[in-house]
Amino acid sequence: MKQFEIISRFQEFNSPDELGQDDRILLEQAIESTKDAYAPYSQYYVGAAVRLSNGSMVKGNNQENVAYPSGLCAERVALFAASALYPGVPVMAIAIAGHAKNFLITDPVTPCGACRQVIAEYEKLYDQPVRLVMMGEKSKIWIAESISHLLPLMFHADELRKKH
Ligand code: THU
Repeated sequence: MKQFEIISRFQEFNSPDELGQDDRILLEQAIESTKDAYAPYSQYYVGAAVRLSNGSMVKGNNQENVAYPSGLCAERVALFAASALYPGVPVMAIAIAGHAKNFLITDPVTPCGACRQVIAEYEKLYDQPVRLVMMGEKSKIWIAESISHLLPLMFHADELRKKH
């Protein structure tokens, strides 16, 4: 038997002012986008902003539905919109932020498992790490340089193409 460890690496910042310009602008877009979230059921408003290699930024926010599973997270709304508007253009980074009606979000909002899988898809498709900038409402900011730090041992398309 052998044990092994997988290390995930994050950078932590105290405020958007400490970020580089690209990250700060993208995070501001994500924060801005929380205001347009449609989240009457959870009252938890998430915004995301995606930066593409052509310099475009695409915003998204969570869109809920009375049939709960029909709704979609902010990250996937932003990523799917980006891919629909700019097909074939690599995704460089995604920023995520959130606020809630009844409490202060004091930890960074991190993407759910399904959104991590979708981010991984674009990372693999373009062979380009997707940088993640994550913040709550009044919280530290965490940055990861690739989805692999949030989704280690991910399943990817290479597994389907393996020769036997
Ligand atoms: N949500 C997101 O949009 N992104 C996340 O990273 C976490 C959760 C949404 C889904 C749902 O509309 C609400 O937040 C509460 O889970």
